[in-house]
Amino acid sequence: MKVGVLASGEGSNLQAILDTVHGREGVEVVAVGSDKPEARALERARGAGVAARAFARAEFEDRRARDLAMAGWLGAAGVELVVLAGYMQLLDPGFLARFPQRVINVHPALLPAFPGLEAVEQALAYGVKLFGVTVHFVDEGVDSGPIISQRAVELPDATDPRAVRDALRPIEHALLPEAVRLIAAGAVAFDPEHPRRVRVGPLYGGAG
Ligand code: GRF
Repeated sequence: MKVGVLASGEGSNLQAILDTVHGREGVEVVAVGSDKPEARALERARGAGVAARAFARAEFEDRRARDLAMAGWLGAAGVELVVLAGYMQLLDPGFLARFPQRVINVHPALLPAFPGLEAVEQALAYGVKLFGVTVHFVDEGVDSGPIISQRAVELPDATDPRAVRDALRPIEHALLPEAVRLIAAGAVAFDPEHPRRVRVGPLYGGAG
């Protein structure tokens, strides 16, 4: 399966994918895109010999034009699955239509709680004891697509967002590559009886 990754920043989740599933079990990361030319993620891609390109908003008429150009570039590279690994922009519906049920995202909270930006800060402000990570399909809402996997961690005395992120990072680096591997293996499928339920397990013959 040819995978395209979008990232806006550091790219540690991209690195986890490159280190653990890229070039294995039929998974190949063929393109990495970013909305930020200075994103460290682009350097990581180039370092791994993967095509990398920035799509800065200012270079396009509007967000839709940028997102359609990105979709075209990924499509031309043969991308079959798009992974949002710290990509901090909402995708235009035209982009999602180009990759139906083939865009996934990692979020540092137990959705549906605390969608959107600053999820960890939201959770801390609420005073939760249980934090976690969600990997989900992307739809036109904000972190609202069907859930593929989640893992929780109890941090009853957490007060510092950095410490929470440090606790969540190894979980992200496990769950996101695992989701890619399972989708490529055809082990992820939407439940025909329940459109929001995602079944993960023995070969289902692929999602969607
Ligand atoms: C991660 O915490 C991810 O959950 C969130 O953005 C962060 C990106 O981190 N959406 P990195 O750039 O992969 O290190």
